[in-house]
Amino acid sequence: MSDSNQSASVNPLRRDLPAGMAPRPCTLVLFGATGDLGARKLMPALYNLARQGFLPAGCTIVGAARREMSDTQFREQMRAAVETHSRQKPVAAEVWNDFAGSVFYQRVRFDEPGDYRALGKRLAELDGQRQTGGNCLYYLATAPEYFPVVAGCLHEAGLARPQREGTWARLLMEKPVGRDLASARALHEQLHAAFAEEQIYRIDHYLGKETVQNILALRFANAIFEPLWNRRYVDHVQITVAERVGMEGRRGEYYETAGAARDMMQNHLMQLLTLMAMEPPVAMDAQAIRDEKVKVLRAIQPLLGEDGCCACVRGQYGPGSFAGQRLAGYREEEGVAPDSAVETYLALRLYVDTWRWSGVPFYLRTGKRLAKRVSEIAVRFRKPPMAMFGRIEQMVERANQLVLRVQPDEGISLSFDAKVPGMRMRLEPVKMDFRYGSSFGGDSPEAYERLLLDAMLGDSTLFIRADEVEYAWKLITPLLEMWPSQTAPDFPNYEAGTWGPVQADALIAETGHAWRRL
Ligand code: BG6
Repeated sequence: MSDSNQSASVNPLRRDLPAGMAPRPCTLVLFGATGDLGARKLMPALYNLARQGFLPAGCTIVGAARREMSDTQFREQMRAAVETHSRQKPVAAEVWNDFAGSVFYQRVRFDEPGDYRALGKRLAELDGQRQTGGNCLYYLATAPEYFPVVAGCLHEAGLARPQREGTWARLLMEKPVGRDLASARALHEQLHAAFAEEQIYRIDHYLGKETVQNILALRFANAIFEPLWNRRYVDHVQITVAERVGMEGRRGEYYETAGAARDMMQNHLMQLLTLMAMEPPVAMDAQAIRDEKVKVLRAIQPLLGEDGCCACVRGQYGPGSFAGQRLAGYREEEGVAPDSAVETYLALRLYVDTWRWSGVPFYLRTGKRLAKRVSEIAVRFRKPPMAMFGRIEQMVERANQLVLRVQPDEGISLSFDAKVPGMRMRLEPVKMDFRYGSSFGGDSPEAYERLLLDAMLGDSTLFIRADEVEYAWKLITPLLEMWPSQTAPDFPNYEAGTWGPVQADALIAETGHAWRRL
């Protein structure tokens, strides 16, 4: 009997799950467990996995952070976090009690080698008690400067490699993976000195979203879209990730070191673009899919033309209002410099130089404090070759659009023209609409649930490979390097609660298009 079957046989909650969805017993060590990510996302995700019976029997969670704390204190803190942030509420006492029994705490000062030796001992003890099979998943939810430090100390303490034959050790890590191409490469070198690339699982939480995974399903599980998915039929593509939020809490401090290019464009929007533009993979597996995504990134024309010009617009929000409430400008936010030149909005026009996409503009935009929270990919098809209805009154030329709504209101819609009932030939746009909520009901798992489970299963399809990260940085880095040498931008250049700077409208108008009104 395989390990996964064994775990399924001892855990009655697992009985109905497909065998491939049953991870082997393991220990998950959460570095930085007491931080914001641990409380908001990771513990709630683990609790929800436990609740649905996805965690293997014996699965052990060890919080590792700098402060002294007992197992009991950590459990209490995590219970409060789960009560606040779990997608399934209220917390079921029975599930929690069971789950809490698998949660432990170990103090680890991230740069203290002795603490890793103590961690190693604790892991060995827990492995003996709970039969975790010696499998270990280390999750880096720390400040980024500790990523190489923790990886290096794990290696020195002999914890980075599988502890015995047939076991595994994996490293799961959050963004940011570097700040530019050079720092990403340097980080990869440091990580690879401790962990092999196959052991490293880099998270981009957008890949854990159902609707993002559905891009692959839409394209490759159906025969009707793919024949149209190319320059012959597609006029242009718009990818939007718009956020209503600004710098809540202490976000400003972090954001001052990031900006929209690093925080969103290099990772989330590039990932959406690669899934949208990639060729069909030879198999639905991690290597084949990631190979195709890398080809897209490699094929994107450099953003800086030879003349030093770039089809990009940056913005920063100033004060504004929403529903009668004043919204602070970025420079007024906590932790933000009063003369900050950090961009909170970025729009780009780029071209993917492949046989399929040559000449098709891809417009990408993302920003904070925009008018609405909405993420979508809109594929605008070419107009019909002839205006057959051109002479008929009120005919408006409207191209077909396929819109993949990532969030909220997840779904897909196709718009086309139809005849309005009546004696005259009058056309109006209509929509065929698929909504996740009404077609499937229930709520989808959180991205982190899917990603944690996949990492336990050893499926790296939804994680970012080192070369993907580096190609994405290769594209964005020239912008980051150019901006400081330019005259200071005229920030703020859009009001909080609006759709971004007017220059972004001009950017897309240059090539004869307009942003979708969302
Ligand atoms: C994070 C960014 O990666 O993604 C945040 O750091 C951003 O600034 C967030 O708000 C958006 O994620 P989601 O899932 O809310 O679209």
